[in-house]
Amino acid sequence: MNYRHAFHAGAFSDCMKHALLVWLLRALQRKPTPISVLDTHAGAGSYDLSAGPAERTGEWRGGIGRLLDDPPEPLAEYVGLVRQLGLYPGSPALIRAALRPDDRLVCCELHPEEHAALSRRFARDAAVAVHHRDAWEALGALLPPQSRRGLVLIDPPYEAPDAFDRLAKGLTTGWARFRTGVFAAWYPIKHRAPVRALFAALQQTGISDIVAAELVLREPLDPARLNGCGMLVINPPYRFETDAMPILAALLDRLGAREPGEGVEMIRLVDE
Ligand SMILES: C[S@@+](CC[C@H](N)C(=O)[O-])C[C@H]1O[C@@H](n2cnc3c(N)ncnc32)[C@H](O)[C@@H]1O
Repeated sequence: MNYRHAFHAGAFSDCMKHALLVWLLRALQRKPTPISVLDTHAGAGSYDLSAGPAERTGEWRGGIGRLLDDPPEPLAEYVGLVRQLGLYPGSPALIRAALRPDDRLVCCELHPEEHAALSRRFARDAAVAVHHRDAWEALGALLPPQSRRGLVLIDPPYEAPDAFDRLAKGLTTGWARFRTGVFAAWYPIKHRAPVRALFAALQQTGISDIVAAELVLREPLDPARLNGCGMLVINPPYRFETDAMPILAALLDRLGAREPGEGVEMIRLVDE
């Protein structure tokens, strides 16, 4: 458990994940029935970008720092929520801000300090439950939600060598219990080989209706750098494949450095 999200809060990877997350939540909220959101790797909830780890790495300057002023239209709702919240929001704060009165959020976080911060934040909030619980175990134990409608956000730290295998297994477990749920899983693109292997593994799981949305800032040749990132979406809501493209394009336009190999892509991995 070495990973601390504060070092990377607000980086381009966070912006991509959170902009798509906000779109997915709004899409689920097109129907009046309440939704449940399970955030399996929740982190601390919010981060101070002006101090501590975030200030030291400064990664946010190349991410949210370039979006806050005059955001392009496809990013307007996401950036509006970030601005409204003041302290830079992690996924739990962002999700909470987007919930309607009957929607619910369940968070899991294993790191003791991150979990303590998250618990404090939502201690008096009846719409949010915070568990000190292993994400992969929770995917078997906490699904399906009572509402039978909802989103599962899976955002692991990718520290372990078998992290991509773990993701494919976790998605298989979760989907087997909640086949109608929308699953969104973020993944890093350092080089292509592990991502290709992940796609091939997912195509063998029996899970249907999977797409991958990708934002690549440069040719992913250096495995020591985060060259891009992707979001796997199982059961993408209507128009996701169309609407996510302008979001990705706007992110690339603002956050990219016009490097060779940059681009955005929507890949259909498994048909409906
Ligand atoms: C990438 S960060 C999450 C960031 C957060 N989703 C956001 O967007 O603001 C990953 C988090 O997962 C936690 N974590 C790592 N392994 C875990 C596990 N097996 N179960 C639950 N949490 C875990 C880490 O402590 C870390 O806070």
